[in-house]
Amino acid sequence: MAGKILVLGATGNVGTPLVKALVAKGESVRAATRSGRAVAGAEGVVFDYADTATFAAAFEGVDRAYVMLPAGYVDAKALLLPVIEAAAARKVKVVFQSVFGVDADDSIPYRQVEIALEKTGTPYVILRPNWFSDNFHTYWKAGIAHGTIAVPAGEGKSSFIDVRDIADSAAAALTSGAFDNRAFNLTGPEALGYAEAAKLLSEITGKPVAYQPVDDATFVGILTGAGVPDDYANFLAAIFHPVREGWTAPVSDAVQTLTGHAPRSLAAYAADNVAALKA
Ligand SMILES: NC(=O)c1ccc[n+]([C@@H]2O[C@H](COP(=O)([O-])OP(=O)(O)OC[C@H]3O[C@@H](n4cnc5c(N)ncnc54)[C@H](OP(=O)(O)O)[C@@H]3O)[C@@H](O)[C@H]2O)c1
Repeated sequence: MAGKILVLGATGNVGTPLVKALVAKGESVRAATRSGRAVAGAEGVVFDYADTATFAAAFEGVDRAYVMLPAGYVDAKALLLPVIEAAAARKVKVVFQSVFGVDADDSIPYRQVEIALEKTGTPYVILRPNWFSDNFHTYWKAGIAHGTIAVPAGEGKSSFIDVRDIADSAAAALTSGAFDNRAFNLTGPEALGYAEAAKLLSEITGKPVAYQPVDDATFVGILTGAGVPDDYANFLAAIFHPVREGWTAPVSDAVQTLTGHAPRSLAAYAADNVAALKA
């Protein structure tokens, strides 16, 4: 009988629909968070990246794991490498949520985590999602409420991806061996600039929303003014450089390959999240 699937970040943006998708497939799911609370249909377990003493109980009886780093943490290597090691030591298959574009340069910390995972010899699937559509009702929600999305994206376009498509892709990678030991660049179906995205969100929410391109310093000032820690604000500013360069614009067929369905458009995302976008 197959073992349990450990899902890290189980109540997060990707974790929530992932747990739901796995439970719907009849899998036995262990939902890991710091609180350890049970999530609909899944048992809960206490897990903290910062406390390796929580790892052994989390991996008990597990043969597959979804490994990701929650938002807000900057030191990907320090927090993820011990989890990868703990999984590999138990021969647990790892589906790792990485970041779109990190394969461009082996010195990027997320790429170094990918390389470490590849070298362990444990089965793995690497998923590299592009910018989440869902950022519009999380990170950029306050801006939308004020009618302006102010980010340092220039005129760059991104093939935004709906977290439900990341979750569906992860569920497929966790429940099939067909994709093992491969990496997938996950994108939505089309690349849009932030001005186009703002126009689309205006139409769907019925509220005027405009895009205001800003420089890094202005952006960091807006974020820190809203309570985002300085290091994470600077990290977010830095990852808009690839957007301005056009490197986040490619569209892949990976969601279709993994899930058998086309990825959701930004318009479909907005229509399904209109209440959160207007709140
Ligand atoms: N947003 C984007 O556009 C984008 C694009 C590409 C890649 N990514 C990648 O995706 C990651 C974020 O994914 P996401 O938005 O799904 O994550 P998320 O929603 O920020 O994850 C939150 C989850 O992590 C848990 N958590 C938080 N701190 C924890 C800790 N110290 N130990 C254990 N669990 C902890 C939370 O539960 P508790 O608080 O109860 O512990 C919650 O279940 C980013 O770090 C980035 O690497 C993001």
